[in-house]
Amino acid sequence: MNNEDRTSQQQSPQDKERQDILRSRGEIPRHIAVIMDGNGRWAKSRGSVRIAGHKAGVDSVKDITEASAQIGVQHLTLYAFSMENWGRPKGEISALMKLLVQSLRSETRKLHENDIRLSSIGDIDRLPPTCRRELVEAIELTSDNKRMDLCLALSYSGRWDICQAVNRISQKVKDGLLCPEDINNETISEHLATADIPDPDLIVRTSGEFRLSNFLLWQSAYSELYVTNTYWPDFRREELYEAIESYQNRERRFGKVHSHLELEEPSVAMR
Ligand code: FPP
Repeated sequence: MNNEDRTSQQQSPQDKERQDILRSRGEIPRHIAVIMDGNGRWAKSRGSVRIAGHKAGVDSVKDITEASAQIGVQHLTLYAFSMENWGRPKGEISALMKLLVQSLRSETRKLHENDIRLSSIGDIDRLPPTCRRELVEAIELTSDNKRMDLCLALSYSGRWDICQAVNRISQKVKDGLLCPEDINNETISEHLATADIPDPDLIVRTSGEFRLSNFLLWQSAYSELYVTNTYWPDFRREELYEAIESYQNRERRFGKVHSHLELEEPSVAMR
């Protein structure tokens, strides 16, 4: 494991201090999931084409990934391409796929040097072959890294995820490996694309829309939501810190009353 923080080479002392303060004032969410929205509107507001917004959005991806790893987030999931995004104009889809390939080519080494593991959720068989190949190679290269998991939701939708979980469970029932009466919340969680990662503690959505847009539907049952009007290409670490601060001010009861929560094992309360 490589613990050397190569991202902090250019980190300002003020930023480091801000992160230290945030860590000491409360819990850092273990898993942050982000609905990166507003690239098109960001571009339009500058009289630019939509892809210019996506390109600028990559800089936000880099800054948020770096800041999340530095501050101690363990899982960062980014909604980079939804199942519904396949319905966008062909030119925009291919520009997005090209951008993904370029980003994987230019950033994978840095992720690896910083002990960040790349993973993905979604129907990646639908991705163009070059894109899929770059993604799989980056996932393999970084598979033993421990500092943070950066999960890209690509060709992902929450309903697709639930459907494929139900399909797999049904197959096990059919094969006699599982009794229908034994199916519970955990069975479903274990068959989702996110089986290996905890449910998101905090979901951030940029550009002011109050929707989940088919993202992590099952997994978001008790996630805290943070919506900002900022368009994704303008969303940088300072706003991430504000979102974390807002999270730290919330009281998470998971449908229980506070006094009862304190009596329980944390692992049970967190389910
Ligand atoms: C939503 O904005 C954004 C997307 C559909 C794509 C997000 C992609 C990136 C930030 C770049 C590539 C990502 C990685 C991980 C390298 P929108 O187009 O829906 O904006 P609008 O709602 O204003 O039209």
